[in-house]
Order: sequence, then C-alpha cells, then structure tokens
Amino acid sequence: MKTEIASDRFLWGVATSAFQLEGSPYADWTTWDSVLSDNPDVTSHYTLYKEDLKLLKELGVNAYRFSFEWSRIQPRENVWDYEALAHYQEIIDILIENNIEPMVTLHHFTHPLWFIKKYPWHEYPSIRKFLDYVDKVLSTIRGVKYWITFNEPYVLLLGGYLEGCMPPGKRDAVLALDALRNILVCHGQAYDMIHSSIPDAMVSVAHNMAALAPWRRWNPMDRLLAKIAKYFYNHSLLDAFLTGKVYVKFPFRKSLEIPVPIKDKLDFLGVNYYTRVHMRFNPFKKMGVELRHRDIDGYGLTDMGWEIHPRGLEKVLRYASKLDVPLIITENGIATHSSRKKIRFMKSHIDILERCVRKGMDVRGYFYWSLIDNYEWLQGLDSRFGLYTVDFTTLERKPTKAAFYYSYLMKSRNL
Ligand code: FCB
Repeated sequence: MKTEIASDRFLWGVATSAFQLEGSPYADWTTWDSVLSDNPDVTSHYTLYKEDLKLLKELGVNAYRFSFEWSRIQPRENVWDYEALAHYQEIIDILIENNIEPMVTLHHFTHPLWFIKKYPWHEYPSIRKFLDYVDKVLSTIRGVKYWITFNEPYVLLLGGYLEGCMPPGKRDAVLALDALRNILVCHGQAYDMIHSSIPDAMVSVAHNMAALAPWRRWNPMDRLLAKIAKYFYNHSLLDAFLTGKVYVKFPFRKSLEIPVPIKDKLDFLGVNYYTRVHMRFNPFKKMGVELRHRDIDGYGLTDMGWEIHPRGLEKVLRYASKLDVPLIITENGIATHSSRKKIRFMKSHIDILERCVRKGMDVRGYFYWSLIDNYEWLQGLDSRFGLYTVDFTTLERKPTKAAFYYSYLMKSRNL
C-alpha cells in the first residue's frame, strides 16, 4: 500500500460529510429532523461506500474531503465502536491506494445524542469529551495528513445558539459566547494533539465566508449592518487566529475580548464559499435585520434561493490571505436540478479561483460540494448538490453532465 502522496500538487477534490451521506442512529440530528428517521435507507453511503469511492476515481479527483461521524465512533458515553473506526480506516486505505489525498473533518455539525444532552458546547466538560474522541481517533487512524477540526464553527453557533434551529436549540448570546470559547479551546488542543502524533500534519477549520453587502447602498444603517456582519461572520475568527482573542465589537461601545488559545494554530485556512447576502435595516424584524438574496449579476439563484455570485469568492479569498497561510476552498457548490446551471456555477467560480492564483494568492486546493446528492440540513432531500444524482427510492447513482465537466476542468486548468 502506498503511504505517501506527492505534497506539491494542487488538490482537486469533492467534499462530503458523514451524516449527510450516512445518517446515524446515535446522532442528535436524527431526532432533530424527522426526514432521516422516517427514511433511514436514503443515507446509504455507509453500506455503498465502495461504489461511491469508485466515483471519485471515475471523476479523476486527487483529494477527497469527508468526515467521521462521531456518534458512530462513540455511540454511548463510555463505549467506543472499533468497527466504525475500522470502517473509516478502510475508506482512507482505499483513497490512498488510488492516489487520492484524504482530508478528514472531525466535527461536521452532528454530535452523539448523549453528548448534546449532557455536555452541550456551552458547558465546560464538553472540551474533555470532544478531546477524548480526538484522542481515540488519533490512536487508531493512520494515513491522514489533512485535518479539519470543525466545519463552520460560526454556522454551528448561529444555528445552535442564536437562531435555535440546530441542536442544542438555544437562543442565548451569553451561552453562545461560552460555546464559542469551548469550541475554539478544542480546536487549539486538537491542533497540538494532531501535530504531536503527525508532525507534518496540515490542520485547519473550514470557515464559512459569505459576501455580505448593504441592501440599499445609499442607506447608512444598511451599510453599518453589513459592516458589522462582515466583521463578526467573516473576519473575527481570522483575527482570533492572528491574535488569540475573539473581539466582540459592539457598534457604539467598547469591544469585549475573549481570550482563545488558537493563535497561529492553523496550517492552512479552509474556506467554504457559496453566496452573497444583502442586509437591510428593518426595525420590525428580529434584531432589526432583514436578509435577502437578490439576482444582481444575472447568474440567477440556486434551488435554495441563494444568489450565485462568483466575484464574492475573490473578495473572501483576498481577505483570508491576510492570515498568511495557504488557502484551500473546502466547499463550493450549488443546489440545482439543472446540469447546465451546475456547470456554469463551477466554471465561473473556478475562473475566479484561477484569477486569484494568477494574482499571487496562495490557494492550494478546490473541493466541490458535493460528490452525490445527499441530505441537506433542515431542507431534506430536494437540494441537489451532487455531481452524481441519487434516486432515493432505488439508490441508483448516475453522473450528471457536470461530473464530466468537472473531470475536464481539473485536467485543463493549470493550477
Ligand atoms: C455548508 C455545509 C455543508 C452543506 C453545504 C450546502 O454550509 O458545511 O454541510 O450543507 O453548506
């Protein structure tokens, strides 16, 4: 078996997450959203993984980002499932044999049910529990150089602690700040643990960055809102990696500083980019903010109503470059039933990526979201992100034209 993959090549890949493809009877999301508990068979990848991994080969990617489902590995507080760990190891071995670089996400939104009930992120012991899981993974799994500790920590906090639409379903800014600190402490500790067992590891988070703009450019309140949102949502996490502090800046008051032990604990930055959001001040809405996707550039909206805005990718990459670490686009994709739209989305974003590289930005990889159609958080099964479609009745996978196009793009671009 090969154990080394050339390290200097541009990573062309696709990204997935375990729960969205596999489900899990032990995860908090299974009880949170009944789509999967009502149709457990649709998340068939746990049994069909060998067929799905063949699709990667067929596409010609040289990297694959996927996640471990923590609740399968630790279904109960003091129970480890070694078969689940062996399953993920087998996936890694197959990837390496096929010369495909594995990138593993340790936490992609879901938790074991026991964890979220007993140790939700705002509770201090959540740190120990998460690090036990990291420790178990590191003592059993071999062959992974690229690690993502947390997928979109800010989306997790917004959904779980401000909007209340994701587990643990809180709406409490004070708890959100406790949870933020605990999650970032976990990142810092996991970073050190990964490096002490894999010295040349590349460790990051996958940070969701959006293009954020005022709805009415002439309106000072809209402009202020967009500025605040840009700082909190896109930039404050990057500042935390630079300074070891999260600054919670209030518009007209002093900022609050939360020390977080993550200064420089980042070997590259994973950027997830999808869309632009326009913001408007509206005193009748929650927190005075109204959000909207508008089709300004003429690229249209996705099936989920998100604006397609390729130029936003350049904006977020330019900003992320200030960290002075390599950048990898760890997710970028579109929900649509139309292959034509998928191809247009992909081409326009990869054109921008190429332009950024030519301008000297250190971008080392691009992962299209996603390999196959899968369950989309809170949206169900109709958001078709896959390069391969899945018929959720027969479970048949079929390539879209976008799959052929992606294969061609990867070969034709000189990155
Ligand atoms: C991202 C999530 C990913 C997927 C895409 C569409 O924010 O990380 O799991 O749902 O959105």
